[in-house]
Amino acid sequence: MKMNNTMSEATLGGQFTFPGTSLTVQRMGYGAMQLAGPGVWGPPKDPNAAVAVLREAVAAGVNHIDTADFYGPHVTNQVIRQALHPYPAGLVIVTKLGAIRPLDGSWQPANSPQDLAAGVHDNLRNLGLDALDIVNYRAMGSIHGPKEGSIGEQVTVLADLQRQGLIRQIGLSNVTATQVAEAQAITDIVCVQNNYNLAHREDDALIDDLARRGIAYVPFFPLGGFTPLQSSTLSAVADRLEAKPMQVALAWLLHRSPNILLIPGTSSVAHLRENLAAARLTLSRETLAELDAIVAATVAMKH
Ligand SMILES: NC(=O)c1ccc[n+]([C@@H]2O[C@H](COP(=O)([O-])OP(=O)(O)OC[C@H]3O[C@@H](n4cnc5c(N)ncnc54)[C@H](OP(=O)(O)O)[C@@H]3O)[C@@H](O)[C@H]2O)c1
Repeated sequence: MKMNNTMSEATLGGQFTFPGTSLTVQRMGYGAMQLAGPGVWGPPKDPNAAVAVLREAVAAGVNHIDTADFYGPHVTNQVIRQALHPYPAGLVIVTKLGAIRPLDGSWQPANSPQDLAAGVHDNLRNLGLDALDIVNYRAMGSIHGPKEGSIGEQVTVLADLQRQGLIRQIGLSNVTATQVAEAQAITDIVCVQNNYNLAHREDDALIDDLARRGIAYVPFFPLGGFTPLQSSTLSAVADRLEAKPMQVALAWLLHRSPNILLIPGTSSVAHLRENLAAARLTLSRETLAELDAIVAATVAMKH
């Protein structure tokens, strides 16, 4: 896409209001995980660039930042605080609980009532906040994705923390449709954050169901995560539109459903600019069909 067109990137994909709340965000947001060091561990490889990415995102109109205190650990939240505190009015910081990073760098569940309460206080301290806008309970699942099993105890703890005023709204991450239903019987759920992108579409039915109920679906790994998306179709479409493949991947998500909110991650200002500019890319019905076929090809290759 030609970049000389000063999109008042003001539109940034349009707006979305989390159900039953006064929290409204632009659909194009930012995921802060890439700001920690390699392996989401330790300080950023370039601390000044990390601060610059966050400031540029907010200056461009982004008002939805996704984080977790276990990124770094603590580092990502501390960089967000350093770059943006005192936070501008309307900025919605979404964090998550449910994991811990022992010294070996692994990701382990931390989902007892004590762990969850401690996680809230870690987030409050490192972000410099009195209350957290939205907290996702992140179920650890398996290496392949979510795993069935009750999350009722954890969601009940989050609802208690909400009653104490430490959490404003509750979401879920890495969960199945059954777990979403279980949580909704306990409290209101405003968003679900799962692994989803052009080539990874297990949640198609869940997205449509959440859309009918006005609940946000926030794909993590929108660009493929640690293994960025690669597809000859994606590259061909991007060339035709004079855009970058990653921009097309993000635009496809924005077109996929109006309840999808984007949190692409990057540690680079140049990539951030490219990603934000994807909000003004319009895909025709034919192009969308072409991109939809990528997953069919991926599935066929696996069999
Ligand atoms: N709930 C969960 O379990 C969970 C899991 C994972 C992530 N998340 C959240 O989701 C967010 C997004 O996921 P993610 O950051 O892991 O993956 P992602 O957004 O799919 O991709 C990030 C990767 O793509 C690269 N990239 C970004 N923009 C690019 C561009 N324009 N051109 C080429 N490469 C580009 C980044 O490298 P550079 O830094 O070099 O740009 C990075 O390696 C995270 O930041 C985090 O907040 C949540």
